[in-house]
Amino acid sequence: MTRRIAALACALALLPVAQAFAQATPIEVRKTNGCGCCLAWMEHLEESGFAPTGQDMFAGLLVRFKLDQGVPQHMVSCHTALVDGYVIEGHVPAADIRRLLESRPDALGLAVPEMPLGSPGMDQGRHAEAYEVFLIREDGSTEVFASYPGN
Ligand code: CU
Ligand code: CU
Repeated sequence: MTRRIAALACALALLPVAQAFAQATPIEVRKTNGCGCCLAWMEHLEESGFAPTGQDMFAGLLVRFKLDQGVPQHMVSCHTALVDGYVIEGHVPAADIRRLLESRPDALGLAVPEMPLGSPGMDQGRHAEAYEVFLIREDGSTEVFASYPGN
């Protein structure tokens, strides 16, 4: 009897974990070896219901990869991710990726150019810069998708 209860409690404890795995959205991240902020961003994704996998590339090849994916030069950041048919460039918050996947606009993807302090994966310090998440259209034009105030 006690054993059965213990087994049941154990199964219940595992349930949320199993659900988290079932719902996690795979996202493939291309980055350079030893990029700490890339790993920090992947952790942020993981905490937000994504299942990121990382792939290291040489810097030159990574830049080529970004441009091949259609990321405009002025939108370039450190890492480039692929999720469900969209490209995600830089430290884009998981909530914005989620909104993209739910609204499914006719677009290439999202970008946070450069690496603003305070964006996910760049949030070690107290200072946060104001930054914007851009939607990249198929023709390479961009528009503001989300704005984050600094402090
Ligand atoms: Cu970075
Ligand atoms: Cu990065």
